[in-house]
Amino acid sequence: MLPIAILASGNGSNLQAIIDAIESHKLDAKIQCVLSDRKSAFALERAKKHNIPNYFINPKDYSTREKHEKVLAQILIEHQVELIVLAGYMRLLTSSFVQMYKSKIINIHPALLPSFPGAHGIEDAFKYGVKITGVSVHFVDDGVDTGPVISQVPVEIKETDTLESLEQRIHAQEHKLYPQVIQLFAQGRIRLDGRKVRIS
Ligand code: GRF
Repeated sequence: MLPIAILASGNGSNLQAIIDAIESHKLDAKIQCVLSDRKSAFALERAKKHNIPNYFINPKDYSTREKHEKVLAQILIEHQVELIVLAGYMRLLTSSFVQMYKSKIINIHPALLPSFPGAHGIEDAFKYGVKITGVSVHFVDDGVDTGPVISQVPVEIKETDTLESLEQRIHAQEHKLYPQVIQLFAQGRIRLDGRKVRIS
């Protein structure tokens, strides 16, 4: 079982998809802990419900990002985490944190990177008028959604789509893709080769 941590700031539907994949034996991972920077994150409730150790670490309690991350790192070390899974974590990680966990932090983004990075990927693609958008899972570096792409799934934007209907289809794809990519990690099938990600 790959020991993982989930970092989330919000609803936690991706966390739920990962929990469900583990419980239905589709994913050989164990969620050691869930960490959030927001007290009201529903992700923390989901963790509690499944008896997963969960922590709200308030960034406002620390004078620098480094000090905040030091506390995160202590928890991750304590739980012997081998892969950090960002699932709607709305905070940029510092270079030193990323270096410390080099090739061990992944993120999911609701657009086809490098298009539409940032906090509003679905809406930005919808408003731009592209015909195809999608979902990306990528390694995390210290930029905003700039790390090497591991896997992507396209989602067509239909004439009849509203932002809400598109959001639903994107989220459905996220919930399939993220557990699959984590399973590839658990099987040791993902290797970083420069900016290219090789999957064996
Ligand atoms: C997802 O759309 C993910 O791609 C983005 O943030 C959202 C998190 O949703 N990074 P949830 O908290 O997992 O429901």
